[in-house]
Amino acid sequence: MFAGRSQLAEADLPTIGVIAGDGIGPEVVAEGLSVLSEAASRDGFAYETVAFDLGGERYLKTGEVLTDAVLERLRACDALFLGAVGHPGVPPGVLEKGILLRIRFAFHQYVNLRPVRLYPGVETPIKGKGPDDIDMVVVRENNEDLYVGAGGFTRKGTPEEVAIQTSINTRAGVERCLRYAFDLARERGSRRPFPGLSAGDRGEGLVGQVTMVAKTNVLTFAHDLWMRAFNEVSADYHDVKTDYQHVDACCMRMVVNPERFDVIATTNMFGDILTDLGAVLQGGMGLAASGNLNPSRQAPSMFEPVHGSAPDIAGKGVANPIAACLSVAMMLDHLGAGPTAERVRRAVARVLAAGTPRTPDLGGTATTVEVGRAVRQAIE
Ligand code: NAI
Ligand code: MG
Repeated sequence: MFAGRSQLAEADLPTIGVIAGDGIGPEVVAEGLSVLSEAASRDGFAYETVAFDLGGERYLKTGEVLTDAVLERLRACDALFLGAVGHPGVPPGVLEKGILLRIRFAFHQYVNLRPVRLYPGVETPIKGKGPDDIDMVVVRENNEDLYVGAGGFTRKGTPEEVAIQTSINTRAGVERCLRYAFDLARERGSRRPFPGLSAGDRGEGLVGQVTMVAKTNVLTFAHDLWMRAFNEVSADYHDVKTDYQHVDACCMRMVVNPERFDVIATTNMFGDILTDLGAVLQGGMGLAASGNLNPSRQAPSMFEPVHGSAPDIAGKGVANPIAACLSVAMMLDHLGAGPTAERVRRAVARVLAAGTPRTPDLGGTATTVEVGRAVRQAIE
């Protein structure tokens, strides 16, 4: 990066901070960036990238996870694109908490947006279901709950040990997440009314649906707050149908009746778990994209595949790069380059519909690079 050039001649270009990270992260990020470059060139969308060396290798070499100074350089970017973090040589949590959660919290990325959409040509393990049945979006609260790291040990390492991990739920934090979900259901419905609505619902002017997923029957403090916030917020959205499900029943229904879901709003922990299930519905971890959003835009949002660093296949060149490509599309949407985002999604759809090339997770024999190249070549 030429600092002088970027500050003078290209001061107004959007800057994308790239954290390739660990394991398959760098492999899929390389393909995501090449697809980005190809799609952007069609629309004259110009941007700069800045690479950030963060992850397990760096930690093992330097002992640094993410310094305050690097965090401030990330803050100066317009968006962040992350591969994955997590390294077999580093104890669990050091990188995940020190990099991923730190960025999500520091930049108030309070929505983790995770679309679950089955592309035509991709097989779902759910018998008898197709692309018309699997098209939902999970709005996962991303700044609170069990993930904030509130807790501690007493008498650690003794037979009397006590470990406490506290779920933090604030009224303001829950409400902003729910409002995002209702706005999203309204926006989706304005493009195409949710097909799961009955004729009666449509007659009443409903266009979309938000299903809140929690555990109000057991978590009678935290999820009581969620339910009250849900009821109050929903009063501002007369065109959006409200639905509630306990998380256990939701797991069952996502498998049995995925077509009954439009937008799901849920807690950080439940959203984490439900979206791995969602990834499987849409064909596997190699296809699931996400955005960690700061809707106020006072700090950058971060886009990343739902999957992790996949140490079992890292370095073999066989990771599916499509989740990373679809995360790039979400980033383009966020940067105001909607038509370029659609170009990327259409190219992915074309490659998936063609049935080849495919990486081994989708039953093929192609490499990461071959699938990336096919997506790039499918861009019109
Ligand atoms: P994982 O998502 O890395 O892998 C789960 C399974 O899915 C593995 O069998 C893997 O080979 C497969 N898989 C994942 N992505 C794939 C792709 N693009 N193409 C083909 N197959 C793919 O989850 P796991 O194994 O639980 O975690 C591995 C490491 O990643 C851990 O250190 C974990 O903490 C970290 N992690 C990081 C995340 C992030 O950076 N956002 C998210 C999830 C886990
Ligand atoms: Mg997860």
